[in-house]
Amino acid sequence: MKPIQVGLLGIGTVGRGTFEVLQRNQEEIRRRAGRAIQIAMVADLDTARAQQVVGDAAQVVADARQVIANPEIDIVIELIGGYGIARQLVMEAIEAGKHVVTANKALLAVHGTEIFEAARRRGVMVAFEAAVAGGIPIIKALREGLTANRIQWIAGIINGTTNFILSEMRDKGLPFDTVLKEAQALGYAETDPTFDIEGVDAAHKATIMSAIAFGIPVQFDKAHVEGITKLEAQDIRYAEQLGYRIKLLGIAKRVASGVELRVHPCLVPAKRLIANVEGAMNAVMVQADAVGTTLYYGKGAGSEPTASAVIADLVDITRLHTADPLNRVPHLAFQPDELSDVAVLPMAQVVTSYYLRLRVADQAGVLAKVTGILAESDISIDAVLQREAGEGENQTDLIILTHDCVESRMDAALASMQSLPTVLGPITRIRKEELN
Ligand code: HSE
Repeated sequence: MKPIQVGLLGIGTVGRGTFEVLQRNQEEIRRRAGRAIQIAMVADLDTARAQQVVGDAAQVVADARQVIANPEIDIVIELIGGYGIARQLVMEAIEAGKHVVTANKALLAVHGTEIFEAARRRGVMVAFEAAVAGGIPIIKALREGLTANRIQWIAGIINGTTNFILSEMRDKGLPFDTVLKEAQALGYAETDPTFDIEGVDAAHKATIMSAIAFGIPVQFDKAHVEGITKLEAQDIRYAEQLGYRIKLLGIAKRVASGVELRVHPCLVPAKRLIANVEGAMNAVMVQADAVGTTLYYGKGAGSEPTASAVIADLVDITRLHTADPLNRVPHLAFQPDELSDVAVLPMAQVVTSYYLRLRVADQAGVLAKVTGILAESDISIDAVLQREAGEGENQTDLIILTHDCVESRMDAALASMQSLPTVLGPITRIRKEELN
């Protein structure tokens, strides 16, 4: 049978990996897919670089629309990124009746509803394993492997850049800015690292996972997004003394009143496996009613790990493209007319526990005043750590771990504590998840 014909839009790091892995493992892949898969056309503005990668194995063009217009092409891989031209090209490819494979989490988290609806109307598949946690097959796991389950929550380290920075801050006791520069020098962080360090990239991925886990539309605009730029090395140290690590987590959780969708730094017990995921690695923990807890670990970025996910999608499409669209796996795991309108909760309604660090005057009655405010707010204390004031110092750090409470109540308590004259600086608040 003639190989299925693929057009690749953008041959940067992941595109090159996809081309090379597909060539290297073509025989195994053919035996699995039941048909050879061939990248027949590549579109890239840098045609010379593209030509260097593909040699005479594929036709190289500068104009992506030439790929979309080619009736021989069955599948279009979009590896351009962003919401601009990538969105237009994906929509045009769908309208042209092409199946689409994309690694573009930003595009799907923001415009997924429109894209999946267009694909459904046109009877084509949009596959996106590479969009979340790179090489980890988490989309496959959530959408198919766990399909028997009612998923309760997902908590993931889904941004390698920030996990690398946090690991280095902990290992070396260095401040955020210093480690960010090191990460940029090593190529772990981009020249403009905003999307990574401000939590936006992780929120895109958490948004996609929330939709698949709970059968809700993608709603990036409802996600709470907080990055790691304000984290201080001393909080990482205090957390360690209390038996915790600080990780940037993407959390999607089903609760009685709705769905929580949030990305923020988080204390996690050091004894949890996920707390020990170091460097640029990713991991996703899923709690579901039948299977219990499962954990998925691996490389969340990089040329061949991401190519591994892209090619898995190519194989899926090759196997399924002749199937009746109604018999394919739905894009968001649930049938499109079965999506739920359960609300994504505002952060004020989220229930979690907290780490608080207060710079206080080292004098009688200060601890009592602070704990008094927490008691009045019905916030229960789990642990307290007070650093011994240094020689001649008249102020000290007070660290408090609380039990669960609703965020709005903690906000009010924090405002009261902050107004105490004996609280000498801005209070640091970091959320805490036991993940048990
Ligand atoms: N920039 C991402 C990360 C990889 O640091 O994990 C691609 O999503």
